[in-house]
Amino acid sequence: MTRKLFVTTALPYANGPFHIGHVMEYIQADTWVRLQRMLGHEVHFVCADDAHGAPIMIAAEKAGKTPQAFVAEVAAGRAPYLEGFHIAFDHWHSTDAPENHALARSIYVALREAGLIDVRSVEQFYDPDKGMFLPDRFVKGECPNCGAKDQYGDNCEVCGAVYQPTALKNPYSALSGATPVLRSSDHFFFRLSDPRCVDFLERWTGSGRLQPEVANKVREWFRPGEDGRPLLGDWDISRDAPYFGIEIPDAPGKYFYVWLDAPIGYLASLQAWLARSGRDLDAFLADPAVEQVHFIGKDIVTFHTLFWPAMLHFSGRKVPDFVYVHGHLTVSGEKMSKSRGTGISPLRYLQLGLNAEWLRYYICAKLNSRVEDLDFVADDFVARVNSDLVGKYVNIASRAAGFLNKRFGGRLSEDVGVEGRALLDGLRAHAGTVRELYDTREFGKALREVMLLADRVNEYVDRTKPWELARQPGMDPALHDACTVCIEAFRVLTVYLKPVLPALAAQVESFLKIAPLQWADAQRSISHGGSHFIGEYRHLMQRVEARQVEALFEPPPAAAAGGVAEAGPALPGGEAIGAEIGIDDFARVDLRIARIVAAERVEGSTKLLRLTLDAGEGRSRNVFSGIASAYAPEQLVGRMTVMVANLAPRKMKFGISEGMVLAASHGDEKAAPGLFLLEPHAGATPGLRVR
Ligand code: 2FM
Ligand code: ZN
Repeated sequence: MTRKLFVTTALPYANGPFHIGHVMEYIQADTWVRLQRMLGHEVHFVCADDAHGAPIMIAAEKAGKTPQAFVAEVAAGRAPYLEGFHIAFDHWHSTDAPENHALARSIYVALREAGLIDVRSVEQFYDPDKGMFLPDRFVKGECPNCGAKDQYGDNCEVCGAVYQPTALKNPYSALSGATPVLRSSDHFFFRLSDPRCVDFLERWTGSGRLQPEVANKVREWFRPGEDGRPLLGDWDISRDAPYFGIEIPDAPGKYFYVWLDAPIGYLASLQAWLARSGRDLDAFLADPAVEQVHFIGKDIVTFHTLFWPAMLHFSGRKVPDFVYVHGHLTVSGEKMSKSRGTGISPLRYLQLGLNAEWLRYYICAKLNSRVEDLDFVADDFVARVNSDLVGKYVNIASRAAGFLNKRFGGRLSEDVGVEGRALLDGLRAHAGTVRELYDTREFGKALREVMLLADRVNEYVDRTKPWELARQPGMDPALHDACTVCIEAFRVLTVYLKPVLPALAAQVESFLKIAPLQWADAQRSISHGGSHFIGEYRHLMQRVEARQVEALFEPPPAAAAGGVAEAGPALPGGEAIGAEIGIDDFARVDLRIARIVAAERVEGSTKLLRLTLDAGEGRSRNVFSGIASAYAPEQLVGRMTVMVANLAPRKMKFGISEGMVLAASHGDEKAAPGLFLLEPHAGATPGLRVR
């Protein structure tokens, strides 16, 4: 039976380019979708930018743009990634598009009519300078638990405590530095604690749509709390103006919280996609055969398994059929930051000329159906790509194609002999298993299975030794058969790898002069009758070199340019002068005079000092600096220095560093030790710009 699939990946915030974690999710979903398409199923695979919310509004303001222009710019940068990694979404939309505004309002009105919306007064921090309520992440202060300074309003990065922003000591607005005041305002709530919702969600989460570990975790929300009622509370779905979002019907100045309209964006994107072929969203979703499948990461499970199904169900809509949750991508065991990603930039990967399908293969080879993190390890990447893809798979074609072309004009033989037929039958017999493994997202197992089959083919080649047959007189028919077997086997393996390696499969199709491979083609043979001619063999895939992967972790050329020269006496300070920049480039670095208010050693680090800096902003900054070898903390307190004031905050092991102080050192620290903090002439005061 033909399946009708509506498939999505999580909608990325439109606040920056994709990081490698996004690409991993897209590769997983795309591979699954490609399998379904090869099986002849109907698939609608869509995504969109998640455009709304306070952080995007604030980022746009900082960039001096309207939020609409800001997100449009981010959206415009998506294509090179998607094309580069062969991610075949049918459609890419935006949650700020008219379809989403209309759908969000209509879903909300339906929930209200169902008696599931409440209005309650909520007391929250308000920034009197900015004239707006502050999201938790934009209130900072001292941790109520450990006293650490400059902690966010929702949790402490130092001791890990979780709290309400109102619990912070000496709170300040991260937007203006002002002391926030408590103010109340009406908020709209989705009454998830209503017994109807709890009943529905208990049923829905228990009906086999979720991975067992996900279902178990989510179902903890139904356990009774201290008051005997389920832990699942009502959900605050509104935010006050100014907010970049969708205005709530009949509530001027109130907007939907971004997480309300974000998943509705799945429907909006599908609607826009269907409209292109004159189809209607409601009619499409009314078909009971349609399966709605969401691929998401483990950090957004509650939104997708509680809030989203409840929103859909109680507004009289179709609920998701499956939510497939994956773990996070780590790089050499390092966790990545949600906004900044890991050290690997997907665009840089492509720009360096690394083959996108190496990464697709590597990621798929490590994916399974569980919620496990996936670690990118450079050596492992090189080994798997070279030994599996090049060594086992591509080699089969390169070993056989030369003889076929040179000795037999590219024609495949009419028969393949008993041993060859047994080998091919064996390969074909695995189509069901491999398909099932892909379908259940056990990609790693699927690829292991395929590589075991490739091993069998290589063993066959080693046994039949075409290169020896080629030298023996009268052995041409045997050589012809053996090479034909290899090509047929290679074709079957290509079917099995095509969901992961679509571009390579297209190259194979053109080399073998065959139509685009479908799953069922594994069972067919192209050599029957001896009338099929293959094309010229051109190298299908290069081996990956370790240095190519190393380059991925090096700073991009703009930062490294000029610094690569050998150290020697001719180089001032032990390193070459950097590549030329324009005055505008320099102006982007905002350097300010700062007073070192406090300095202390960092426990667990011999290199770092923790500096508290005053740059005249009405608040202090926490900066970690690698100058412990040169200064005792007490030498520094009260002195002035120069700070990079617009460096993005960096999360370090010991806390967040909100800037950088400038110091001079030799390019070769060992040959010429010494570290000298910059200090302005007398009279400079905190906050003055250095230009
Ligand atoms: O966590 C995120 O990146 C969100 N932008 C995901 C939204 S998924 C869906 F609900 F839109
Ligand atoms: Zn703390």
